[in-house]
Amino acid sequence: MTARMEGKRALVTGGANGLGAATARLLAAHGASVVIADLDRAEEQAASVIADIEGGGGTAHFVPVDVSVPELTFEAVERAAEWMGGLDSVVASAGVGSPPMPDGSSIRNLLDVPVDGFDFVMDINLRGVFLTCQRAAQLMIDAGHGGSMVTLASMASKRPTAGVYSISKAAVWMMTRCMAHELGEYDIRLNALGPGYIDTDLFRSMASHLETDAEKEAFVEQRRQQVAMRRLGTTDEVAHAILFLLSDESSYFTGSILHPDGGFTSTFGGG
Ligand SMILES: NC(=O)c1ccc[n+]([C@@H]2O[C@H](COP(=O)([O-])OP(=O)(O)OC[C@H]3O[C@@H](n4cnc5c(N)ncnc54)[C@H](O)[C@@H]3O)[C@@H](O)[C@H]2O)c1
Repeated sequence: MTARMEGKRALVTGGANGLGAATARLLAAHGASVVIADLDRAEEQAASVIADIEGGGGTAHFVPVDVSVPELTFEAVERAAEWMGGLDSVVASAGVGSPPMPDGSSIRNLLDVPVDGFDFVMDINLRGVFLTCQRAAQLMIDAGHGGSMVTLASMASKRPTAGVYSISKAAVWMMTRCMAHELGEYDIRLNALGPGYIDTDLFRSMASHLETDAEKEAFVEQRRQQVAMRRLGTTDEVAHAILFLLSDESSYFTGSILHPDGGFTSTFGGG
């Protein structure tokens, strides 16, 4: 395998599971040092990602964080930089699909979502990404080197069909563009990724309100049929797009959004 991230130091929020975990593994396999920042309760999952990375000869650490809390997020970014001797790569993947509801359902439509549920999604999906990227940018500027950051937006950034989730992801994309505008002069690049339906716990949780396996499968099948390629994406397919955006191969990309979505955005929903 070619080492496209040799010498790079990467922080991956939400790196214990799903897209973040696949990305942490791939970045390490390409030579990056990695710090996984995730919730306390995800430590065991993070340990398994770290064991895989160390098994492949790489180095990785875990730092607990709740990205919706400024002090914790700033501290996690600072600890990551201390452990790795600096920070030049960031993946802001920590995110939620909807607020937690007492009955386990997924409510995000704007007519029904409770106000504290609205805040919950925005605080993690938007504010958490902002806090992570802001502190990382400050450290990169202080250290006098550039960097590359990838934010996890979504195809929902361009589709008004997921209520508060769509709002949070449209805002992440704009935040990415605003920071790209401010930070270009420091050689710090920010790009957003707008995945389609990727088979992770977050994607499956969208069907948690359905009772039977047959109903859940029908939910997934309906979405599969909306995709030009007629299948869900894999976490590895998303991780490879992130690898490109973090590596020097994408050195003239900033403020962009790429859609690993099987053609969904350009053929069906949003342009
Ligand atoms: N899976 C998809 O289809 C899809 C599509 C488009 C965008 N995305 C986005 O990609 C990102 C990752 O999604 P995923 O599918 O891997 O989800 P996931 O649920 O598998 O993983 C999300 C991770 O974020 C962590 N997390 C949640 N809240 C946190 C908080 N407050 N602080 C720190 N960590 C927290 C979780 O513990 C988990 O490890 C999210 O931002 C999501 O919105 C996912």
